[in-house]
This record gives sequence, structure tokens and C-alpha cells, in this order.
Amino acid sequence: MKLGVNIDHIATLRNARQGKEPSLVEAAKVALLEDILALTMHLREDRRHIKDKDLYDVKELGAKINLEMAATKEIQKIALDLMPYSVCIVPERRQEITTEGGLDVEGQKEYLKEFIKPLKEKGILVSMFIDADENQVKASKYINADYIEMHTGKFSLAFEKGDYNKELEKLKAASSLAQSLGLKVNAGHGLNYENVYLMKEIKGICELNIGHSIISKAVFTGLQKAIKEMLLLIK
Ligand code: PXP
Repeated sequence: MKLGVNIDHIATLRNARQGKEPSLVEAAKVALLEDILALTMHLREDRRHIKDKDLYDVKELGAKINLEMAATKEIQKIALDLMPYSVCIVPERRQEITTEGGLDVEGQKEYLKEFIKPLKEKGILVSMFIDADENQVKASKYINADYIEMHTGKFSLAFEKGDYNKELEKLKAASSLAQSLGLKVNAGHGLNYENVYLMKEIKGICELNIGHSIISKAVFTGLQKAIKEMLLLIK
């Protein structure tokens, strides 16, 4: 199982002051010191965190980018120019705090089938961010996606409440159906240091995309060093 590190929150923090700190490129460099598969970045329609230039700056480091994107022509054009390693098609609502719920592939399968064609033709791997639902898995196969990424948000919430079995079983069923159809399987959303071990129970998951909990932990694992360095400078 490989790890994709979502660095959107670094950009959120940077954008809070509209400045340069913390640098997304520096964050990417640090992440790339570890044995990760890719850096995951979501270019939203409203550009609330990742900006267009960030994608190119990180690509220049030689990083594999997993670009999360809505199925719009505007972002498709950017993806075709950027040439990320993979794209993950996600639903996007302007007011949402984060990606809430999976993409309805079933309900727009003809559109999505056409939409992903040029991306696939260029050799970009295409993933569909879906709920663990049989029809969504089958629709992802129908449109010729390479991967599904299972939305683990419901599982994560259930884990917090201490009653996650049903959600875990749904993930297992969706994953094995997908693999039986020849799709590869990723997972992500709400995974953290407490619940991630359970992903090992789902056979054949290729990649986990994790952002919030890693960046949150980094605040504490790195905060003491940051204060020490500042103290040295002002002594
Ligand atoms: N995968 C997808 C498709 C997402 O939209 C997100 C959130 O941006 C993640 C993974 C990572 O979720 P989290 O930040 O909760 O780890």
C-alpha cells in the first residue's frame, strides 16, 4: 500500500496571509524525502488553496502529482497541459468545507466517459472518487476509469463513534467488486493515525491519499523545533 500526501492544507495556511509562508514547494520537498507515491493536490474551481502556479512549481521538482479535479473543461485543459501522473475526478460544491461524498459516476456516465478520454489518451491515470457503492463501481468500469478511490469519510466518522464494522464491510465489498472488474483501488478522506490500520484489512488497496491528519500532526511534531530556532535567533 502506497501513500499519496495531500498538501492542500499547506496552501490554505499560506493563503491565510496571501503571502509565501509556508512554502508549498518546501513542503513538497520534505514530503518527497520519504517513500511516497505522489503528492496529491486539489485545484478547486475557486482556487481556495492550490493555485495554478503551485502545480507547475511542484511538478518542476520531479514529483508525481495526483491532481484532484472536478470534471470541468477549464480544469481538464490545465490537466492536459500539466500532465500529472494521475487525476482523481471529484465532486465539487462551492460552499463545502471539503469533498463531501463521492462522485455520482452512474448519473453522468456518458459525460464522464467522454470527459476522461483525452486524459487517458495522454497516458494520465484516471481515478473516480466514489462512495463504496456497487453501482458507482460498475459505472466507473463502464466509463473506462483506471482506478476508483473509495471515499472513506463515512468509515472515518463511524470509527470515531466506535462502530465502524458496517462501513468497513462496505469498503471491502466495493474494493473486491472493483478488482474483479479489473479496476485498481485507492482510498482516502478522513484517514488518520488511529483508523488507518484498518485499511490493511481491505485486500489489494494500491494507495491511500491522506492530508488533514498528516498536516495536523506536523504542526506538533515540528512546532517545538520551530520555536527553538526562533529563540536562538532572538537571544
Ligand atoms: N482523497 C480525496 C479525493 C480528497 O478529496 C481528499 C480531501 O482533499 C483526500 C483524499 C484527503 O482527505 P483528508 O484530508 O481527510 O486526509
